[in-house]
Amino acid sequence: MFIGNVEVKGLARLAPMAGISNAAFRMVARECGSELTTSEEIDAQGIFRKNTKTRYDIAKYLPEEKPIALQILGADAETLVPGAQWLQDQGADIIDLNMGCPVKKITKTGRGSALMKDVPKTAKILAAMRKAIDVPFTIKIRSGWDEKHLNAVEIAKMAEDVGIDAITVHPRTRSQQFSGLSKWEMIGQVVDAVNIPITGNGDVKSMTDARRMAAETGVESVMIGRGAMGKPWVFDESFDELDEQGKYEYQTRVINRHVQLIMELFPEHVGLVQMQKHLSWYAGGRERVRSFRVELFGARTYEETQGVFDRYWSSVDPSRIRQLDMALV
Ligand SMILES: Cc1cc2nc3c(=O)[nH]c(=O)nc-3n(C[C@H](O)[C@H](O)[C@H](O)COP(=O)(O)O)c2cc1C
Repeated sequence: MFIGNVEVKGLARLAPMAGISNAAFRMVARECGSELTTSEEIDAQGIFRKNTKTRYDIAKYLPEEKPIALQILGADAETLVPGAQWLQDQGADIIDLNMGCPVKKITKTGRGSALMKDVPKTAKILAAMRKAIDVPFTIKIRSGWDEKHLNAVEIAKMAEDVGIDAITVHPRTRSQQFSGLSKWEMIGQVVDAVNIPITGNGDVKSMTDARRMAAETGVESVMIGRGAMGKPWVFDESFDELDEQGKYEYQTRVINRHVQLIMELFPEHVGLVQMQKHLSWYAGGRERVRSFRVELFGARTYEETQGVFDRYWSSVDPSRIRQLDMALV
C-alpha cells in the first residue's frame, strides 16, 4: 500500500500510543517488523508555544526510523497549520491528525475525537492544513462521537474531497473509550465509501487477527496498539515458529535492545518510568510477576531497575508462560 509517495510495507504496523509509542519503542517494533510507525500524539499548542518537552522529547525520532509518520493533536487551524509545518520541517514523511482521542481533557478543548462532531468546521481545518504541507497527510478517526452519531463514513468522504491521502479507522465511538469490542464492519463501510487507502485498527492481537481483519474489511494495512505492548514481536511471524527457549532468547534480545535505547534517548528521570513500565509488560504472563513488579517499581535508578529485571528474567522458566488478554498485559 502507498500513502502518497510513501510505501507501507507489510500488513501490520504499530499504532500511536501516548506515553508508549516513543522513539525507543517504535524502533524495537520496527526491528521486529513494523515497517512504518507513527509517533504518539504531539500537541500543536506545545509546538506553537515552543514547549521543549513537546518539541524535543515527544517529537524526537531516530534517523533509522524513516519513513516516519508524526501525529499532531489540536483543535484549530491557527495552531495545527504551523504545527504541521514544523513537523514537516523536522522531516516527517507523513503527518497524521489525531481525530480519535477520547480522553475528556482532550475532547473538552475540541481536540481528538471532538473533531468528528462538527464536520464542516473540521473540513475547513483539514483544507487549511492540506494547503500548508506537501508531505502525505492522513487522519485517524473513530466510528463517531457516540452511538447516535456514527459518522466515520461521512468524515471519510469529506476527508477524501479535501485531499487527505489515507485514513486509519478505529471503530469504537468516543463514548466507548476502549470498552467492548471494536466493530470491524464499520471499517469495511469506510473502505467501500472512498478510494483512498484505509488502515484498520482495533483489537488486533496477532498477525492472524490482522489477516482476518484484512479479509473481512478489505483494508491493506492494520495497526496494532495494545497487542504490541510488551510484545513488539507480534509483528514478526517467525516468532511464533520458535520453541519456548527460542522465544525466550528472542525476547531477551529485544528487551535488552529496548532498555539500551531508553537509556540512550531519555534523561534518567523520564526514561526510568519508561523502562519500568515496559519491563513490567514484558514480564506479563510469567511466573512471580506480582512480586517482581513491586520490586521493579521500587527501583530508583536505571542501574537498580536493570538489576531487578536481570535477576528476575534469568530466573524464570522459559517454558512457563500464560497467554494474557490485552486488558491484562
Ligand atoms: C495508552 C494508549 C494511548 C493512546 N494514544 C494514542 C495517540 O496518541 N494517538 C492515537 O491516534 N491513538 C492513541 N491511542 C489509540 C490507539 O492508537 C488505538 O487506536 C487503540 O488502542 C485501538 O487499537 P488496539 O485495540 O490495537 O489497542 C492510544 C491507546 C492507548 C491504549
